[in-house]
Amino acid sequence: MERIIGRKLITLDEVGSTNEYAKRIAQDVPEGTVVVAKRQTAGRGRRGRNWTSPEGGLWMSVVLKPPRVDPRLVFVGALAVVDTLADFGIESGIKWPNDVWAGGRKISGILTEGKAGEYSILGIGLNVNNAIPEELRENAVSMVQFTGRELPLDAVLERLLFHLGGWYRVFLERPDLLMAKVRERAFILGKAVTVTEDDERISGIALDILDDGSLLMGIDGQLRRILYGDVSLRFF
Ligand code: ATP
Ligand code: BTN
Repeated sequence: MERIIGRKLITLDEVGSTNEYAKRIAQDVPEGTVVVAKRQTAGRGRRGRNWTSPEGGLWMSVVLKPPRVDPRLVFVGALAVVDTLADFGIESGIKWPNDVWAGGRKISGILTEGKAGEYSILGIGLNVNNAIPEELRENAVSMVQFTGRELPLDAVLERLLFHLGGWYRVFLERPDLLMAKVRERAFILGKAVTVTEDDERISGIALDILDDGSLLMGIDGQLRRILYGDVSLRFF
């Protein structure tokens, strides 16, 4: 079967952000082009937050051209990361909407960006061998902390591209199955959470993740649907 994701690989020693780079070249490269950088000097999370990206981690972005911009693309990244971690013996789960956690800490973050009718960028940051800076240590973790030995980055990338290819196909053909897997892998369900959306804080129980990617919360006996977007989720 032809492999779309990773059929063209651009490797850089240093870049501001692979997402920004991917956006700049998106129009001129085939779907599935991957940009990987050894380090990013201006790695970003959502809402312009910093993403710490020193050498030793996997910082990459995929240029995709799906038929429409779909917020569920983020879950292609999250599921592929969970499967890649499992290949290296690390158990992890999805923290809706865009993180992967292992051992109670964040090991990976996904940032999707798109321009309707033109391209979608799927950016993935995965802490592999990189040291976690002091100020993030309580909340962030690297693969090497689980394995006890450094991992070859090219092998981790290879597994990630393989799983991205598989989940991207499921996303295009059977998004309902993609979301069924997300529900299985999401460790937030049944937990008390606070979601911050703009300036509003909403506290309740995370009940379900619906087929459109939104989160269903139970708040004092009422149901409320939180759309995927710039929302932050915390456990109380
Ligand atoms: P949170 O991850 O705290 O729920 P969020 O998902 O709302 O926050 P994002 O903008 O998606 O926030 O992620 C950026 C956040 O990730 C930063 O604010 C920082 O706390 C954290 N972070 C930055 N670099 C790393 C890294 N290499 N590994 C893990 N976490 C990181
Ligand atoms: C998050 O948790 O908010 C998402 C972080 C996404 C980080 C990755 S690293 C590769 C790509 N380039 C960026 O600048 N961000 C994403």
